[in-house]
Order: sequence, then structure tokens, then C-alpha cells
Amino acid sequence: MLAGKRVLLLIGGGIAAYKCLELVRRLKERGIGVRAVMTQAAQKFVTPLSVGAITGERVFTDLFDLTAEHDIGHIRLSREADLVVVAPATADLLAKMAHGLADDLATTALLATDKPVLVAPAMNPRMWAHPATRRNMAQLRADGIATIGPNAGAMAERDEFGEGRMAEPAQILAAIEAHFAGADAGSLKGRRILVTSGPTHEPIDPVRYIANRSSGKQGHAIAAAARAAGAQVVLISGPAEVPDPQGVTVIHVESAREMMAAVEENLPVDAAVFAAAVADWRVADASEQKIKKGEGGVPLLQLVENPDILAAVARHPALRPRLVVGFAAETEHVVDHARAKLEKKGCDWIVANDVSPATGIMGGDVNTVHLVSAAGVEDWPSAAKGEVARHLVARIAAALTETA
Ligand code: CTP
Repeated sequence: MLAGKRVLLLIGGGIAAYKCLELVRRLKERGIGVRAVMTQAAQKFVTPLSVGAITGERVFTDLFDLTAEHDIGHIRLSREADLVVVAPATADLLAKMAHGLADDLATTALLATDKPVLVAPAMNPRMWAHPATRRNMAQLRADGIATIGPNAGAMAERDEFGEGRMAEPAQILAAIEAHFAGADAGSLKGRRILVTSGPTHEPIDPVRYIANRSSGKQGHAIAAAARAAGAQVVLISGPAEVPDPQGVTVIHVESAREMMAAVEENLPVDAAVFAAAVADWRVADASEQKIKKGEGGVPLLQLVENPDILAAVARHPALRPRLVVGFAAETEHVVDHARAKLEKKGCDWIVANDVSPATGIMGGDVNTVHLVSAAGVEDWPSAAKGEVARHLVARIAAALTETA
């Protein structure tokens, strides 16, 4: 989903410029092409040679470079990218952007571009707090410029501490990924989305339970991404490892039956995503008291099947959401099993992932999924769970618009 995208990286003159090398490396790892423009000041901090070595492309520095003008020109330079990223965005660069000044290649490219722009400000905290910078930032936001950071922390100058450190490369990367995932701010505005997440705990007695290794990371990331896209989100979560996402109504449950009841209470919704790893079975007669050793030997646990929440909602006679998305956690024949599950459960899409221990997906931060629907199978490249979530949310938004 990211491979083949192109970023024009405008590197400003700040100590944080060295972090751009790491950012470029990470972008390239994801198959994103990076072309860099460096300001005069930027070249005091990192050399065009090192930036070019990592981008693998010519680095542009001079507005009046006749060969470059002949080859490509600053207008084309700024328009051939899918996204323009300014990092570090110095106080000076931001001021020039806010006023439309174009006295070097970087600012000319910014004024000439018709592409979205993301800035990663970096400066001394006093410069960041200055009313002039505040005004410029307000103007840039009003112009539709996206911002990432700055962070608070120790500054390069001794004894200085405060807001002004450039966002870390990983944060800038996440902002770029979110941009390309297309889950933009308003795409789910006015929609109600229900998400289940986490494991369920099925009691054996008041202190023991049957559970599984689900962390809740993927489900919670989907709830957060749906919220970020403007949806009203209800997250029905089993005992997950991760904190509640902000701005989302979270209903905490323990068992599959509690999850089922909470889901039914929160219908109708426009779309429902069942990311929870619901225990298939529960203990038939959970003991009301703690089972003690020795009394009649080892306890025999009789299991009974839990209600299938996904299937029940997908086949709901009156309140079936327009889009029902299930997950399939498989350890073999991932896509075949997912196809079968689509039928069996009656849902519209199955997000299938391979949870064999070797993949590290269960509990990990990265996911490799296949989106299986009646239309076919899409293999998505491995990505952070947050990115998978944003991509899925973008697809949900598109599907709801199509069927509206
Ligand atoms: N699911 C559910 N309620 C259940 C069991 C599963 O809502 N009682 C949902 C999960 O949230 C997931 C999907 O169904 O979206 C697939 O779950 P999975 O456990 O993989 O499917 P099973 O039907 O249990 O199939 P199998 O055990 O054969 O893998």
C-alpha cells in the first residue's frame, strides 16, 4: 500500500537534519521513493552526499542549477511527489511558507506544489512559543498543512528544555503512513462503528480462567483509526493488554457471553469489525467457589461452545450492519480457511492473518493480513498494526460510501 509512493523531502537547516537520514532509510524500507531538496542551511548539518547515498537519487540544492532546471525544473520536482514533507521545518521555513516567500529551491517547490504538505517543526522552544511562530502555524493549519510534533524534551543548547524537538523519525513515518492509508479525518463522519477486541476469559472458578494470547493491539488500533476518521466508535473489549483508545466508548467485558450481550445492546451500527479472539468454548459449570486440590482428584472440565458473536450479528434478522468484518486467526492454509469462514459466518470481509508462533503476530506490533471477500483475495504487505488499522478503516469508509 506504500510501495511506489513518492515523497519530496525538504530538509531545513536545523540540528535535527541528521534525523532525516533515518527517516529516509525507513521510508525506503517501505518501498517509498524519496527525492530530497536541501536548503543552504541544511547543508551545514548534513551533506548532500550522505543524503544522496541514502535516497539513491540526486539531491537538489540550488534554484538556479541550470542542469536541474533543464532536466526536471522546480515545478515538476514539487509535482512529481505524492506528498511533500518538510523536516526539520525551521522557524524561518515555516515563516516563509506562511507568507508565500520563494527565495530558494525548497520554498519555491513549496509554493509551486499542488500536493499535500506535512511539516515536522524543529526549533528552540522560545522560537516555537513566539507569537510570530504561533501566527505562522495558525496560518499554515488554515492553509491545510499537516503537522507532526514538535516534541518536548532537552534541546541541543545546554540547559534548554521545552517544546521544540523535531518528532522522531518513527513518528514522522507513522504520520506519512497515515496519510497514505487515506483514513483522512472526515471519512467516517456521522458513521457508527462497533469493534470487538482482545481475548475473552472463560471462568473455571472465581480465580481461574481459560484465555488466549490475543493482546487487543489490532482491534484497539482499528477502534482508534475509526475514531480518527471521525466515526462514533463503540469498542467492546475483553481483558486486553493495551490501554483504552481515546475518544472511543469502551465497554469492558470478560467472557464471550458478556461480549455477545454488549454487542447486541450496541446495535444498530453502520459497520462492525470483530477483531476479538473470542474463546470458542467455556467451562460448562464454572464453580462458584475456588476448586480445591485433593477433593475428588483432578477436576474434569466439561466444555460447551460459546455463542458465535460474528455469525449472530452477520445473520441478524433486523439489525445486520451494512458491513460486517470478521477476523481469522489461522496457523495454516490461511486464505483457504478464511474463504470458508466467510461463508460459514455470513460476513462481508474476513481479515485473515497467520498467527503461527514463528510470525510473532500474536502480541506483536506488525501484522501481515489478507483481505478476503466475495470479490477475491488481497494480500497486504506486512505493516505496523496501526497502519493495517488505518488502511482497513479507509476501506470501510469507501465501502460505506459505495453502498450508501
Ligand atoms: N468470533 C466471534 N464469536 C465467537 C468466535 C469467533 O465473534 N464465539 C469471531 C472472531 O472475532 C473473528 C471470527 O469470528 O472475527 C473468527 O474467529 P475464529 O475463532 O478464527 O473462527 P472459528 O469459527 O472459531 O473457526 P476455527 O475455530 O475453526 O478457526
